[in-house]
Amino acid sequence: MSELSPDLLRELVAEARLAPSVHNIQPTRWRLVDGGRLALVDDTTVRAPVADPAGHDVLVSHGAALEGMSLALNRRGFAITGMTTIEQPLSPQFAALCSFAIRQGVAPDPLADHVAHRMSWRGRFVASPDDVAPLAQLAVARDDLIYIGHRQAIAEIAGWADQAEFSFVRGDAYRAELLAWMRLSPEHPHYLLDGLNRDALAMNAVEATAARYVLGGLFKPLDRLGIAASLLSDGAKTASASAIVLFCRPVGEDPLTTGRHFYRCWLEIDRAGFAACPISALADHPDFNDRLRQLGRIGGDLRLVNVFRIGRPPKPLKPRHFRLPVDRLVV
Ligand SMILES: Cc1cc2nc3c(=O)[nH]c(=O)nc-3n(C[C@H](O)[C@H](O)[C@H](O)COP(=O)(O)O)c2cc1C
Repeated sequence: MSELSPDLLRELVAEARLAPSVHNIQPTRWRLVDGGRLALVDDTTVRAPVADPAGHDVLVSHGAALEGMSLALNRRGFAITGMTTIEQPLSPQFAALCSFAIRQGVAPDPLADHVAHRMSWRGRFVASPDDVAPLAQLAVARDDLIYIGHRQAIAEIAGWADQAEFSFVRGDAYRAELLAWMRLSPEHPHYLLDGLNRDALAMNAVEATAARYVLGGLFKPLDRLGIAASLLSDGAKTASASAIVLFCRPVGEDPLTTGRHFYRCWLEIDRAGFAACPISALADHPDFNDRLRQLGRIGGDLRLVNVFRIGRPPKPLKPRHFRLPVDRLVV
């Protein structure tokens, strides 16, 4: 069993924080506890209660952060051992969700090298004749991913994604929460720290200003005129994807485990040379979840947890990660 020094913990947290989280809210904190164990701590003040009423996406985000920690340890020859997953309140703000010890000696994980490169790509994709081999590579690597590659099916799913997203966006509380996590101007004090900023959303200044109005005070008049949906549409981007990928996990799986696999799938997608963006609305909306289950022939023992659009960006990605400083994440 190895003891973590405070300096090593900071290095590990700096890498673990690159894991994806819903709306980039970053709910995960870390604490060294008795016996040299490391605890994954939930900051209970960090939530997106309208988009994620059951808190499932927060737990999936914690699971991704846990996998991020495992990969950061792996790069240094360490592994997680002796995991306990008993939730333990630490204060009104913090609760430990699990804790584990660290052991030395582990085979290198090929996904660890993709942590710094993976990011959400929210722009268009360009078609490439070279997609077949990497898609086949992905299919071999993961049995919890189902691929839909027919152009017609992708175009149809692009329409479903817009309808699902718009049905949520019509909710006043949903729009207010989304806007609160958006940082549409670089002057926003949290622009580089958390939430969804204009760079991450692949928007220019004009598009960002338009988004602020369309999601804000102009939404209702534009909706009455019947043009809000087309102004907010992501359909062309989704339709440009090389494939739609359905992420399915066993019914009843612990969400921390689901989150670990969610992150590993995304890293596999990166390893295969694709960029990706989740479309949670498709999984969260019961009707479209059902339609996708039928299309992907998903068995009753599996839950459709999320959906990715994947493809090749027009230019090689230069990943930027907007994250809280390590000091805020070690509590
Ligand atoms: C559970 C979960 C659900 C997500 N759903 C969406 C989504 O519906 N749309 C989207 O654009 N990004 C979604 N994301 C991606 C996050 O917004 C993204 O990971 C975060 O902003 C950090 O940015 P990065 O992925 O570029 O590091 C989701 C992430 C997680 C963990």
